[in-house]
Amino acid sequence: MSKEIKTIGVLTSGGDAPGMNAAIRAVVRKSIANGLKVKGIKKGYHGLLNEEIIDLEAHSVSDIIQRGGTILGTARCLEFKTPEGQKKGAEICRKHGIDGVVVIGGDGSYMGAQALARNGINTVGIPGTIDLDIACTDYTIGFDTAVNTAMEAIDKVRDTSSSHERCSIIEVMGRNAGYIALWCGIANGAEDILLPEKYDYDEQRIINSIIDNRKKGKSHHIIINAEGVGHSVSMAKRIEAATGMETRATILGYMQRGGNPTAKDRVYASIMGSYAADILLEGKSNRVVCYKNGEFVDFDIEEALNMKKSIPEYEYEVSKLLSV
Ligand code: ADP
Ligand code: F6P
Repeated sequence: MSKEIKTIGVLTSGGDAPGMNAAIRAVVRKSIANGLKVKGIKKGYHGLLNEEIIDLEAHSVSDIIQRGGTILGTARCLEFKTPEGQKKGAEICRKHGIDGVVVIGGDGSYMGAQALARNGINTVGIPGTIDLDIACTDYTIGFDTAVNTAMEAIDKVRDTSSSHERCSIIEVMGRNAGYIALWCGIANGAEDILLPEKYDYDEQRIINSIIDNRKKGKSHHIIINAEGVGHSVSMAKRIEAATGMETRATILGYMQRGGNPTAKDRVYASIMGSYAADILLEGKSNRVVCYKNGEFVDFDIEEALNMKKSIPEYEYEVSKLLSV
């Protein structure tokens, strides 16, 4: 069903990610250039239900492309998971003249967009998460920045680890997905990479490899542990006891979600923001913008949510092979 749009709302939802501001800026400026009005919905669906809605002009998004975080704020909102909350959200959109909404977030946020679409508001999603855990797309806003931030931090830990001849377990974010860990594992040349999708909890194998590497003269042993595997502190204690090698755990945490976006995140987020405005301008709804096989494309949200994704086998093999 196609509907002419006059006013677009834009919101960010779920965890923030560097590059979300670049996407907001692109949505605003592309829409205004095409004669639409734009409203910013603050703090995700929570702000929608509380009518935290502001007018956005082209100048409202000046000086933000280089900034991490999201100028609109973000939140998680349980009420929006209920049919009553979703109906109320659509009514608030209508009250403010909003007939199309761009939702920047992850799979959970798309379900919210789907619910708004069911309630008569045209919607389009943009993948925003550092975790890269959205099946329909090979790129998500923030992943590139998060990996670069983590990689630089891990380089630093490696310096001190080598000086002290220690083993370091460095825990990176990713929720239940191991993409950040995999990329850091390769980029940092880690000796071991523990991914929730792959790890078999064979700690003895890790212990044996640390002992072997010590014999070969390696001065450090870097283990990148994904948040989805977790337990880095207790693992460090067990490994130290079993190997006799001093072992420290470092949990990188929220630093991975902040900071100035990389060029890739700024550029891809800008293209996706512009693409999302195009979709609403064409009168389409319930779509999600993706980057797949080297192209920007869009899918129906239902179709997108049913897609599956797994750790690329070849990348995983490379990560293991090169760390010997
Ligand atoms: P992400 O978008 O990164 O996957 P969440 O899963 O936390 O993050 O979802 C973000 C928000 O999207 C939730 O707080 C909620 O407001 C909304 N949401 C999540 N699941 C649903 C759902 N099934 N129906 C409607 N809204 C949802
Ligand atoms: O989805 C992004 C992310 O940073 C995950 O890597 C992490 O598991 C989660 O969000 C943390 O969420 P919160 O901000 O609620 O602690």
